[in-house]
Amino acid sequence: MSIRILSTSALVGPHIEDLGREFPELRIVPYRSAAWTEALPGVQALVVLLSEPLTETDLEPCANLKVIGTYSVGTNHLPRGYCEARGIHIVSTPGVLTNATADLALTLLLALTRRVREGEALLRSGQWKGWAPDLLLGSGLAGKTCGILGSGPIGRAFARRARAIGMKVVFWDREGTGEPVDLGAETARRLPLDDLLRSSNVLSLHCPLTDRTRGLLSRRKLALLPEGAFIINTARGGIVDEKAAIKLLHGGKIGGVGLDVYENEPDIDRQWLTAPRTVLLPHLGSATRETREEMSRLLCDGIRSVLKSSGT
Ligand code: GLV
Repeated sequence: MSIRILSTSALVGPHIEDLGREFPELRIVPYRSAAWTEALPGVQALVVLLSEPLTETDLEPCANLKVIGTYSVGTNHLPRGYCEARGIHIVSTPGVLTNATADLALTLLLALTRRVREGEALLRSGQWKGWAPDLLLGSGLAGKTCGILGSGPIGRAFARRARAIGMKVVFWDREGTGEPVDLGAETARRLPLDDLLRSSNVLSLHCPLTDRTRGLLSRRKLALLPEGAFIINTARGGIVDEKAAIKLLHGGKIGGVGLDVYENEPDIDRQWLTAPRTVLLPHLGSATRETREEMSRLLCDGIRSVLKSSGT
């Protein structure tokens, strides 16, 4: 029996097994293993993770490919132009990870500004000598300005959280400076990028990695941030010039950096590990059981629907 659906991993929840009952020609085979490469010419659907890029060369043997499902909202690891030109559908998981990712961005922000990592380390080291007026003073957020890059669902969900803790919110996105961003009950202003950077005490990234946003936060742009600004990145590492951010941290210009994503994952720039005032997580934005199950459901529904509608 030739393989029709080739997934590199089992996913969280029952949905991929359900799909396998419907399409018994589904196999789980490790990414870029010999068996995976061997199966490519016959497959109609591929399932990959965000850490498993596909190139045009990978896809060339896939003469029957109808759909690629990625277990992520981001699709920057897929050759989108190539797929579009060949009518190959891309199914990703928008919507269902909005709250989980916005929650994690807020977690990073609060952990960073309230020095949670240092407090925990102090207590666990046995060195805590008791309450003191100036012990591990952090930075308050109420009344400060949060600049958000990207006004999609996650950026807007983060904006509502930032407002809830008393911050002012401004956006930069590809729309420019037109209509304000709709946050449900309220709206928020869009600013040109340089203006936003100059006024952001906190900068949180929620835009996709595209040709336009790759390297967007260059050394020059980061230098526009006010003294002591905090940067939170739960989007993609490639948007920020990491070396420049590390240098600004060492120089004291940036107040702190909270990261869930890196330019090279999992092989992150080792300089992050010794940079001061950081909270570093291993790409956990969508990592709640509920969210990962919903992502599986959405992905499997999408694959099923493409395979059925293509009459195969
Ligand atoms: C996470 O980074 C995702 O794209 O789902």
